[in-house]
Amino acid sequence: MASSQQLFAGMGLTTTKAPYIEQAVAAGTMYIEQPYELYSTDNHQTWQRLYARMQERWYRHANRRFLDGLDTLCFEATRVPKLEEVNRFMAPRTGFRAKAVSGFVPAFDFFDCLSRREFPTTITIRDGASLDYLPEPDIFHDIAGHVPMHTDPAFADTLVRFGACAHLAADMVRGMTDRAEQRRRLSSIQNALQRFFWFTVEFGLMRGMKPDEVTVYGSGLLSSYGELAHSVSSDAVQRYPLQLAWVINQHFEIDHYQPLLFIVDDFEQLYEHVGVLETWMKNGKLDNVTPGWRDMSEADVESFLQASERA
Ligand SMILES: [Fe+2]
Repeated sequence: MASSQQLFAGMGLTTTKAPYIEQAVAAGTMYIEQPYELYSTDNHQTWQRLYARMQERWYRHANRRFLDGLDTLCFEATRVPKLEEVNRFMAPRTGFRAKAVSGFVPAFDFFDCLSRREFPTTITIRDGASLDYLPEPDIFHDIAGHVPMHTDPAFADTLVRFGACAHLAADMVRGMTDRAEQRRRLSSIQNALQRFFWFTVEFGLMRGMKPDEVTVYGSGLLSSYGELAHSVSSDAVQRYPLQLAWVINQHFEIDHYQPLLFIVDDFEQLYEHVGVLETWMKNGKLDNVTPGWRDMSEADVESFLQASERA
């Protein structure tokens, strides 16, 4: 039988144009291998261009822990990283591992992976014709944007504690006989968790060493050439100290630069915020957050319901 490398040789692993991924999705396979030989010359060149142009901006705006993570991981500037090589450098630091996925991972499963120190990682890379924006994650966002932070113990512990909140959410609705109320409550909790993740892990800012200095630790910003500088220097952005009650009620849109960002003092503070989130969930304070502009997807709801039905 032909291997995937033979079947899809020369077709590349470009976001939305990768037959290897289409086949995995059609087969319902969420966790996959990274068939490294399938990356095309164009794919590697796209990584090289993205990586090269971020250097100066990372050194100017990124959080110190992110820059330390870059040093630890030893990415090569000229080719897409191999996940096994990334993991070889990362796992000894915090136990975190990048785990290749075919695309969408339902919310519960995503959070559950974090609680086990696994990071669901997209292996495709954006088309070189559009370096700046794509709505779906790619390997540059997941590996260059997220993974350097996973080498930091305090940040890694925060992700694990946050991931475990999904189990708590499933516990909170277990055994409910009113199915409509169960779904409504789950949807509210999920909105709160998703907003917290968005305004911290994806788009978080942190105080710097100098007075009034703001640095970036959010991966959505650290993987965006344009928005990284914009997030810390534009007058069009509102920046406030992170207030949990605000964050869990604040909806967001994904298709433009963020007009509102939140600043934490350090990762120890972020870890404490997750502790408060847990307490609020237990006390029912996440059961009625402001509804979102989009509802939770059916697959996300189902993933939590299935978890709640497991003993
Ligand atoms: Fe992300």
